[in-house]
Amino acid sequence: MRILFTGGAGKAGRHAVAYLVAQGHKVVNLDRVPLGNPDVHDMIADITDSGQMFNILSGYGGFEELEPGTGVPKFDAVVHFAAVPRILINSDNECFRINTMGTYNVIEAACKLGIPKIIIASSETTYGVCFSDGEVDPGSLPQLEDYDVDPMDSYGLSKVVNEKTARSFQRRFGNDIYCLRIGNVIEPHEYETLFPGYFANPEVRRRNAFSYVDARDLGQIADLCCKTDGLGYQVFNAGNDTNGAVLPTAELIERFYPNVPITQELGEYEALFSNRKIKDMLGFKEQHNWRKYISG
Ligand SMILES: NC(=O)c1ccc[n+]([C@@H]2O[C@H](COP(=O)([O-])OP(=O)(O)OC[C@H]3O[C@@H](n4cnc5c(N)ncnc54)[C@H](O)[C@@H]3O)[C@@H](O)[C@H]2O)c1
Repeated sequence: MRILFTGGAGKAGRHAVAYLVAQGHKVVNLDRVPLGNPDVHDMIADITDSGQMFNILSGYGGFEELEPGTGVPKFDAVVHFAAVPRILINSDNECFRINTMGTYNVIEAACKLGIPKIIIASSETTYGVCFSDGEVDPGSLPQLEDYDVDPMDSYGLSKVVNEKTARSFQRRFGNDIYCLRIGNVIEPHEYETLFPGYFANPEVRRRNAFSYVDARDLGQIADLCCKTDGLGYQVFNAGNDTNGAVLPTAELIERFYPNVPITQELGEYEALFSNRKIKDMLGFKEQHNWRKYISG
């Protein structure tokens, strides 16, 4: 497939792009900074500028595309990761503005240009725990996609708005728009640098429901979304099979969420940020559990 990827130079994007290229896709990266992957053409642009989105989404994606002499090829899919990725980077209103307007512009251009598949990065923060003021419990566990999302921060709110934007455009255009509620992204080197600290002080992971997603497994999830057609509007949690913790799930619940209603029977180490939907509907098969890279 010919895929326009936004934010491919970022932490999650660079691994997801590498995975998509390895599957044989042609990927064009749209970002404010270049990715620098020799297999990927970089287009420098700002997602908050609607004109640039229409232009790049209807343009060439590399000099080699001039050769056939058959005009500009169409994109088969857009994977939209570009964003301000959390609070406390810039002001709350700037985070909200860039994330909501940027996503609106990308989705609008993709829909009006007839691109049949759009995948956008939402976030686990929509569940209203991660960036909340004080120690807040989730309304229920595991975290499931049909939860009444209720963040109290501008970043989480921007992602809730983006899911609504996606739903609205999907209703009007009838294409496939899938929103990935991405868990805490872990790059390959971070098992060694971060996980020992998480094991020693598990409480630091309470706000993330102990979730993580390997950046390469996130690439697999994006690829499966590209390949799975006809699902209309969907929200998927994007996380790994187990918690990023050495403690069994029942112990995590007892210690950190003793008053939270449990709505599903859970496996011994099964993730509290549930990934059952991507396994059932997309066929996701985890490749990079943390236990492959570090001893608990
Ligand atoms: N990292 C995580 O743990 C995590 C968790 C949940 C969701 N997410 C979401 O996943 C996506 C990727 O996150 P990341 O951790 O790779 O973030 P990142 O900041 O490392 O990468 C984001 C990329 O977007 C680009 N970008 C930002 N503003 C832009 C603009 N106005 N125009 C064009 N490009 C712009 C940046 O240059 C950067 O390369 C984001 O949408 C983020 O909200 C990340």
